[in-house]
Amino acid sequence: MASIDRVDPVILGHVLAEHRELFTLMTCLRSSFAAEGPPTRERVDAILSALGNLREHLHCHFEQEERGGFLEDSIARMPRLAPAVASILRQHPALLTELDALAGRLRAAGVSAEGWDRADRDFEVFWRNMMDHERRENAALQEGYNEDLGLVD
Ligand SMILES: [Fe+2]
Ligand SMILES: [Fe+2]
Repeated sequence: MASIDRVDPVILGHVLAEHRELFTLMTCLRSSFAAEGPPTRERVDAILSALGNLREHLHCHFEQEERGGFLEDSIARMPRLAPAVASILRQHPALLTELDALAGRLRAAGVSAEGWDRADRDFEVFWRNMMDHERRENAALQEGYNEDLGLVD
């Protein structure tokens, strides 16, 4: 069982800062999709590159969460969180697959209005899934540490 002072607040703070950074990257992508005008080669390439960047960040972030033990710490502190944490971690590969599929379809569609609209709709679905994931994760951390980290509304 983890000791109560095992948590490194610096690293925990880093994970929480990463959540904010991911949110910023996703907000930029959302505004790029929302910008006026038809899809051009330049816009499609810019979106694909931003999606690639987001993917890299997400991959690192997920690995860090899986290795970092914060969620396990939450369980050690509050065993009833175990099923919720297991289901949160199972979302990681699914989210990466969803993002890869979205980017793959856009890349294959090239410069087409249908391909662009589809990617825009797909990104909104990804957005909701990702926000739901982070909300559940923040809630588990907050509950596990039994502290108000200011993460949940
Ligand atoms: Fe996560
Ligand atoms: Fe996270």
